[in-house]
Amino acid sequence: MKIFIVGSGGREHAIAWACSRSKLKPNITVAQGNGGTWQVAKNVDIPVDDIAQLEDYVRAERFDLTIIGPEAPAIAGLADRLTERGFRVFGPSANAARIEGSKAFSKRLMVEAGVPTAQFEIFKDKPRADDYIQLMRAPIVVKASGIAAGKGAIVCKSVAEALLATKQIFDERAFGSAGDEVVIEAFSKGREVSMMALVDGTDFLLLPSSRDHKRIFDGNRGLNTGGMGAYSPVEDITAEMFQKLAEDVLPRLLKGLENAGSPFRGAIYPGLMVDGDDFIVLEVNSRFGDPEAEVLLPMLNFDLLEAMAEIAEGSFSQWMKRGGMEPFDGLYAKKDGFSATIVAAAPGYPGDYPKGATITGIPEENDNLIPFHAGTKRVNSRLVTNGGRVLMITGLGKTLHEALDTAYDGISQVKFEGIQFRKDIGKQGEY
Ligand code: GLY
Repeated sequence: MKIFIVGSGGREHAIAWACSRSKLKPNITVAQGNGGTWQVAKNVDIPVDDIAQLEDYVRAERFDLTIIGPEAPAIAGLADRLTERGFRVFGPSANAARIEGSKAFSKRLMVEAGVPTAQFEIFKDKPRADDYIQLMRAPIVVKASGIAAGKGAIVCKSVAEALLATKQIFDERAFGSAGDEVVIEAFSKGREVSMMALVDGTDFLLLPSSRDHKRIFDGNRGLNTGGMGAYSPVEDITAEMFQKLAEDVLPRLLKGLENAGSPFRGAIYPGLMVDGDDFIVLEVNSRFGDPEAEVLLPMLNFDLLEAMAEIAEGSFSQWMKRGGMEPFDGLYAKKDGFSATIVAAAPGYPGDYPKGATITGIPEENDNLIPFHAGTKRVNSRLVTNGGRVLMITGLGKTLHEALDTAYDGISQVKFEGIQFRKDIGKQGEY
């Protein structure tokens, strides 16, 4: 089986790694891949935003399955272009990917479908947005509706901060056309949890819970990043909450997408805010989280590639039935125990950072430790840094403590100039 994975981060390395262990014994190509994906795949130098070139490559190579890692190519319509030409794809259509690409679409859909979400209004101009802020007061969240490199959601502690946010988005065009519409949302307190599911229309398999750590510094201080570490499962999701998600919230969301003429196919990722025994859906992403994929995928006790291929065929529910799996089996569809990943970042990240530093000391993979690469590149026989988030070390263990110890042992062996990583990943979790 010839498969093509689009993307170049730790998530795509984790997908390639999981696929390489499949009984389908795939021949894997990754675009653009990184300094780690070559261990299990061939790297091909096509940027993820060059949809035309990606399509041409799939047509030339006649891949049996294309797996879309990040949101951008899905939002730009890569899945549509490939399926129209008869190719199998794991990843949503452009219409379905609006669930991530347009927060205005996503919030409207959630309300119509009865999915619990924070109170909000949508604005296309600053004066009305500012009136609403004055009415609602702070804390309040101002969000650019479109994709804004993870920076489009501004949590404002005061009215003045919120008015500054609308000025930046509407007047100064800080996020370009992503800020044509603005969602203003009530601030939600609680703890964030990432939930992911494999989805084929309204059929799905919910995966275990996980938690990202988005700020750069320990204690959740400093600027937002793409994610500095994660662990799974998290202690906050009770069996009742998992059941509510599997039997009520997710079916409503997927039915809502189907009713909107945008049935979803791929990995869906509702970001929850959990407060006590209850939760709301803060946002919905149309892909695996990164670094959540790096903790989730090594924990799965089923063949991920087989599941993705069945979704691409539209036969996922039959596959689940054959395997005796229920949609909420995700609670159990994992190896026993815990998983944690620590991200090593370049100095200066998430601001400007250097590239090209030599990386040494990456520990060998074993049953409980897996190094995943993100911003790395091979230059002749040297491995060098090539991005802000450089690599992740995932540890597995019977307890969270054990998983974290393994991951931290591993990351402490990695050396490159100015390496930074958080020392408190998973510290809020149960040991
Ligand atoms: N972990 C955050 C994200 O993937 O969006």
